Amino acid sequence: MMNISIKQAQVIDQPCDLLVLSLFQSTTITGGVVGELNKCLEGALAQAIKQDRFEGKFGEWLIFPTFGKMKAKKIALIGLGDRSAFDLDALRKIGAHILRRSREAKAERVTTILHGVGTAGLLARDVAQALGEGMWLGAYRFHTYKGVNFKKKEQFEVREILICETERVKVVAGERGMAEARVLSEGVMLARDLVNTPSMEMTPSRLAEVAQSLARPGSPPARRAGRISVQMLSAAKMEKLGMRAALVVAQGSQHPAVGVHLIYRPKQKSKKKIVIIGKAVTFDSGGLSLKPADGMMAMKCDMAGAATVIGLFQALPKLAPHVEVHGIFLAVENMPSGTAYRPGDVVKAMNGTTIEVLNTDAEGRVTLADALSYASGLKPDAMIDLATLTGACVVALGDDLSAIMSNDRKLTDRLLASAKEAGEGLWELPLFQPYQELIKSKIADIKNIGGGRSAGAITAGLFLSHFVGKIPWAHLDIAGPAYAEKETRPDISYGGTGYGVRLLARYLQGL
Ligand code: BES
Ligand code: ZN
Ligand code: ZN
Repeated sequence: MMNISIKQAQVIDQPCDLLVLSLFQSTTITGGVVGELNKCLEGALAQAIKQDRFEGKFGEWLIFPTFGKMKAKKIALIGLGDRSAFDLDALRKIGAHILRRSREAKAERVTTILHGVGTAGLLARDVAQALGEGMWLGAYRFHTYKGVNFKKKEQFEVREILICETERVKVVAGERGMAEARVLSEGVMLARDLVNTPSMEMTPSRLAEVAQSLARPGSPPARRAGRISVQMLSAAKMEKLGMRAALVVAQGSQHPAVGVHLIYRPKQKSKKKIVIIGKAVTFDSGGLSLKPADGMMAMKCDMAGAATVIGLFQALPKLAPHVEVHGIFLAVENMPSGTAYRPGDVVKAMNGTTIEVLNTDAEGRVTLADALSYASGLKPDAMIDLATLTGACVVALGDDLSAIMSNDRKLTDRLLASAKEAGEGLWELPLFQPYQELIKSKIADIKNIGGGRSAGAITAGLFLSHFVGKIPWAHLDIAGPAYAEKETRPDISYGGTGYGVRLLARYLQGL
């Protein structure tokens, strides 16, 4: 992973390939570091700004060589946009922009500053964290499956970013923020890798193995703060527990179902227990209710909820929140075959509720029925599930927003606040009780589809509510933001996004 460090030093004195400074929109360059730099360059910077009509618009970039007049080989200015609109999420994007532009400029060693400290009360620690997240996540690329020629020629990477700051206290605070950004980014990138890996490799057992590896004794984080332990639920164990709903979904696949129960215990015993549940369908063909070709193309992403759980758990020992955290997923593959479950089949979930399966493509809620029943049995203070659950949610909220549906106001507000801090889109939808009518079954307790095209995300949420009892619970439908077909932000690249790792980490740290 690229190295980012913070040093107590004057930024202008550092030898590097590229020095990056910034300007807010419509500010003059006479004061501050940019003014100093201009003096060093005998006014060349002011001239370049004028010539290029650089205005400081958000993400605007101006780069030119210093021809040996300074220790930096090149200088760049990045626009921070309107000062009144500037916040931590803007900084995250700025971090990602700097990284990507530096990479395009083939700069191996980049020097920059803690942009915007003091603006709108932004603290050095938070600025460093946001910049770090933006830089590391902006640098992410998935090249595992590229051939040797590509790797030789096109894989230029920025190696080293040095952030200079003159005040000692800000350096120390910044280092703390940067350390946290590193741990979180690693978790997000692990989740991205898991989603991006093709389903032929990321099978239920492979996914379970990755989770299991987090608990291996002696892995460095386990020795430091809290520890991770894991319990595997084999298909036979799932059968014993009565998880017929999850098992029936896996019936059409060559790969047996496997469940995972991760536990993070903080060093000091904690009174709070939180369970995070992830949808873990390693490939969703739709089953016998087969998806059309276009709808199937991205369905390796259907285990993104579980990937987020794994990414989060990788980070937990280093983040060391003071709560007990359980992570649960039941991994299955949804395939059509002679042994597949059929439309019309009825299964009994672990909590005794019977489900009429009318569409085998609404499989996520069927597997989650058992995952949530099992989670409720742990009697947690709250449980949160993340699931790429419905296309209807993407229709309602688009690619950048997940939906949150919950039976608990306080939990909802906390998660909404955490999402905002993390820069992850989240919007509330109602668990509108009259729509329970839409999932009533004529022959079982409930059916796994709602009323045609209406309120598909909500009826899926209502379905899940049958398996949580009275426990405070929130369901996050991440079908939109879990997988990026388009790069809508510079810290997101095509494919898995690792959505949710950072918002859940913030939530747990805030308890
Ligand atoms: N995994 C899909 C939902 C999905 C769609 C995730 C697009 C990511 C992007 C889910 O299992 C599914 O197929 N849902 C159906 C439910 C319907 C049959 C009631 C859907 O949304 O069409
Ligand atoms: Zn499906
Ligand atoms: Zn699915």
